[in-house]
Amino acid sequence: MEKYEKISELQLRLSELRKDKTIGFVPTMGALHQGHLSLISRSKAICGTTVASIFVNPAQFNDKDDYRRYPRTLDKDLEILENAGCDIVFAPGEKEIYPEKDKRIFDFGNLDKVMEGKFRPGHFNGVAQVVSRLFDIVNPDKAFFGQKDFQQVSIIKNMTLQLNLSVEIVVCPIIREQDGLAMSSRNMLLSDSQRKEAVNISQALLHAKTQAAVTPISEIRDEAVRWINSSPELRVEYMEIIDASTLQPVAGWDEAEEIFACVAVHAGKIRLIDNIQLK
Ligand code: PAJ
Repeated sequence: MEKYEKISELQLRLSELRKDKTIGFVPTMGALHQGHLSLISRSKAICGTTVASIFVNPAQFNDKDDYRRYPRTLDKDLEILENAGCDIVFAPGEKEIYPEKDKRIFDFGNLDKVMEGKFRPGHFNGVAQVVSRLFDIVNPDKAFFGQKDFQQVSIIKNMTLQLNLSVEIVVCPIIREQDGLAMSSRNMLLSDSQRKEAVNISQALLHAKTQAAVTPISEIRDEAVRWINSSPELRVEYMEIIDASTLQPVAGWDEAEEIFACVAVHAGKIRLIDNIQLK
């Protein structure tokens, strides 16, 4: 595996590879787990060269403590990527990505007025800033994102439309721990008891799925919130049942073609998100 920190060196290498290979790109913030690796293997399956990036993007953290606390495990990540057969890793420093402050403000309409966008003001603007810069640097044919960050996928797709980028966005399913907890770099920050209780998040969503179509949406939502909040260490921040194409809440099963339940939960200082398709 080749490792680059400098944009110019990475681009020189990619311009050679691009001559006869498609470029697949997996942007990450490191602290890698099987969820990230599923994106790498999907890229390897359909692209000639796979590039991963590791960059903990300060612009997308609206909470300074969350940024400070975010796990950084670069040496281990490099080993994991090497073993996964990743071809190239790009691990830039902050000055390389932001030689000066990125002042761009994106307009995502209603897409970022709800859920993560509502509770983490500025978060998606920071995501769009960094991902557009990374796309500009790597110029991939395809880029791979996890369904785990459901709203992020909508934002990235919308951003590529707005900027008229030709990259294809490939969405990959959520990878879960054996007990159902969605894998996340933040899971390693949970205490033992928080980790045990966190299983209730996916269980509440799975239960909601079994009730879908036959139970009113508001009842499903209320029950899932009650289920999670009955764990002493967990507090629901939001639980939304939404139209997958607009991300706006729906009140009835016939209001949208595809319906998802999306949830954010506080476990002490750690914030976890998950989602499930209900229709
Ligand atoms: P990060 O949280 O490191 O996630 C990198 C990619 O891995 C994202 O596309 C995310 O959706 C995916 N991912 C995380 N957990 C997953 C799981 N359990 N199953 C499947 N995929 C999973 O998302 C970011 O970084 C950043 O916002 C980034 C896009 C890199 C921009 O900074």
